[in-house]
Amino acid sequence: MTDFLDRFKHSVAPVLAFDTDIHAERAEGIWVYDTEGTRYADFACGTAVTNLGHNHPAVVSAAQDQLAKLTHAGCVFRYDSIVDVAEKLAEITPDGIEMFGFANSGAEAVEAAVKLAKYTTKRQGVIVFRGAFHGRTMGSVSYTTSNAKYRNGYHPILSSVWVAPFPHPYRWGMSEEAATDLALDELARMFKHEVTPQNIAAFLVEPVQGEGGYYPAPQRFLQALRDLADEHGIMLIFDEVQTGFGRTASWFAADHYGIAPDIIALGKGIANGMPLSAYGASRDILSGWPVGSHGTTYGGNPVACAAASAVIDTMGGLLDHAKALSEHAFERLAKLQAAHPTIGDVRGLGLMIGIELVKDHGSREPDAEAMRFLSEYGRKHELIIISCGPDGNIIRFIPPLITTMDELDRVLDVIDAGLTAYET
Ligand SMILES: Cc1ncc(COP(=O)(O)O)c(C=O)c1O
Repeated sequence: MTDFLDRFKHSVAPVLAFDTDIHAERAEGIWVYDTEGTRYADFACGTAVTNLGHNHPAVVSAAQDQLAKLTHAGCVFRYDSIVDVAEKLAEITPDGIEMFGFANSGAEAVEAAVKLAKYTTKRQGVIVFRGAFHGRTMGSVSYTTSNAKYRNGYHPILSSVWVAPFPHPYRWGMSEEAATDLALDELARMFKHEVTPQNIAAFLVEPVQGEGGYYPAPQRFLQALRDLADEHGIMLIFDEVQTGFGRTASWFAADHYGIAPDIIALGKGIANGMPLSAYGASRDILSGWPVGSHGTTYGGNPVACAAASAVIDTMGGLLDHAKALSEHAFERLAKLQAAHPTIGDVRGLGLMIGIELVKDHGSREPDAEAMRFLSEYGRKHELIIISCGPDGNIIRFIPPLITTMDELDRVLDVIDAGLTAYET
């Protein structure tokens, strides 16, 4: 163990942040096993990726079959698995999303989505929303404002990116209605003072802000963006990299709102751990992007695409269970909030739940120490949970969709007991 950690620290760049020092050996379902045989319920889902649990047999088998047949095609040869997954994506994504391009990571999908919007509208401006996370490449980090540290040391970043407020009712200490009014008023002021809508190619928005603190967009806010986009010829891009593939107990967060984007960016859960991401839009929009204006060597790799097809085939049957898990989790968390002064707010959509830990309900002062304590407590009780939010005080509660009701209850029991231990 020590030897492994020494070797790790000696040879792996420390800039890569690992949430734990657990030396993982294998994983199955909700469980990850370390080299000493200790198991941990992975409620971090490998940072919101393994929505079907680790090594889901259907995904493993599809990937293995494809691996043995054709591992790489590199945009030289055409192959079944890329067509299969594109056809399946068209069935499950919001209305109007008909064709897909593929990449390897969420950041790349976001960058492609923005490039597509700029090319299509022949405009250069992008409006993003404070608290968003869209990735760490130079383009995507220019759209990311969940935490200033992600941009620290990299200025100048991309220009013509405007940051508008995203409603954060709890943190702002106001109702959802008031926060929505404030955010929309600020957007109107931005159009009046800083940039005209005619310069804007895209609104880039997460329907539920993830890394920034698990804030679902209010319905009225998202609808206003859709209306403004229609009025001014702006493309509405939904970054569903984290919210997609069952995380909100629907295929996509857009389904909850009944609002369709012009362009969608997908990643994370798409292939349950195989590196794959995608961007989708209408046939009309994507047909106007000339050959070679964008491209990739590995994106849409045959094995990753086969895995993604298996994810889609499997996940449909789990969405009802995910809804039941979500309802139960919100019910129990409401009780825990009433019992624990440390829980300031519980919010989210489906199985994308933020539990905000504070020093006291009145001040809403973030309590990162409580989060650290709880992570450590969880680890001692076979549970891995990670945080989100700029203050490191929000439990990113993202159960795998295959979690049983009993397992969910046991995990909530651990959180309950951990908070009691912290508070006494
Ligand atoms: C909403 C969202 N967009 C984009 C990304 C970037 O994805 P990746 O780390 O795969 O580049 C993330 C990653 O956390 C994300 O949550």
